[in-house]
Amino acid sequence: GTPADYQAEDATITNGVVESNHTGFTGSGFVNYDNATGSAVEFSVTAAAAGPANVVLRFANGTTANRPMDITVNGTTVASGVAFGGTGNWDTWQTVTIPVTLTAGPNKIKATATTATGGPNVDKITV
Ligand code: GCU
Ligand code: CA
Ligand code: CA
Repeated sequence: GTPADYQAEDATITNGVVESNHTGFTGSGFVNYDNATGSAVEFSVTAAAAGPANVVLRFANGTTANRPMDITVNGTTVASGVAFGGTGNWDTWQTVTIPVTLTAGPNKIKATATTATGGPNVDKITV
């Protein structure tokens, strides 16, 4: 169906904080992942029908180092170590698209940092 936005600041956050101290975000802010392995954001996404979908994750990474994350859907890892590279500064946002398969109705989509530097700042996903 028509893609919808799911704001990170409205999602379930594990070891991260909602902030708005950089520009260019949508909604009311973004999630600053704690700089630690396992910091995560879990989105509740409703799909009208079962089948393939693209998760478009909008992020900023003001460092020059990759901030990889694992992506799970309903508890199953569907993409490991997805790269979230430097975007130039913390005010500059880019997207990464992750193809997934959703079930009809509610789905849990989680992005978990896999290194000690944590995830990038995450603005939203569009699904
Ligand atoms: C800076 C920046 C944060 C970011 C953090 C990081 O503190 O202001 O938004 O999350 O770096 O390195 O993760
Ligand atoms: Ca951080
Ligand atoms: Ca946002």
